[in-house]
Amino acid sequence: MSGSQKTLLIVLAVVAAVLVGLSLSTLLPSAENGVSTQAQNRALIGGPFELTDHQGNRVTEKDYAGQYKLIYFGFTYCPDVCPTELQTMSAALEEMGENAEKVQPLLITIDPERDTPEALAQYVGHFHSRLVGLTGTPEEIAAAAKAYRVYYAKVEDENSSAEYTMDHSSVLYFMGPDGSFLTHFGPGTAPSAMAQRMNKLIEEEDGEAS
Ligand code: NI
Repeated sequence: MSGSQKTLLIVLAVVAAVLVGLSLSTLLPSAENGVSTQAQNRALIGGPFELTDHQGNRVTEKDYAGQYKLIYFGFTYCPDVCPTELQTMSAALEEMGENAEKVQPLLITIDPERDTPEALAQYVGHFHSRLVGLTGTPEEIAAAAKAYRVYYAKVEDENSSAEYTMDHSSVLYFMGPDGSFLTHFGPGTAPSAMAQRMNKLIEEEDGEAS
């Protein structure tokens, strides 16, 4: 490829990265943002899904209705980001006390090619006894990721015996019993901060419901 083609490719890549960054910052504002943004997020993030759990059962969002949900999109071959976030998820649930029982933790794979129900079954137990792994066809995973505004892409990795890795956004979504978006946690959020925020939101929601 010529030098000018290379330059053009680099410019396009930068523009694409900026656009992705802008749309993510619009869709995923920090928790400190105003009420109207939270209300918009409630409508924008989440939705119906049809997937297969790590025990091989076909499931939809209705199977988890009535429970709060802590949802992470990742993959079992992930070397560091996913295990770190799943450990954080587990530690946060631990710190929540009895409210944790109202929360169903879910791991939705963005690598359905390798993450079969069997592979997920071997993986989820390392993090939390109640963590459910969800996989599906590439189309089903794409639909779920789209509903949650999750970016993911296959990246060639010649140095890895697995031949490819996955690039993906790392966000924990906290969803209400009716499936509505309550808040999200970015990478690096401390488990104690997550636990406090979830407990507060559960108290608010349960207060409204009663
Ligand atoms: Ni990862």
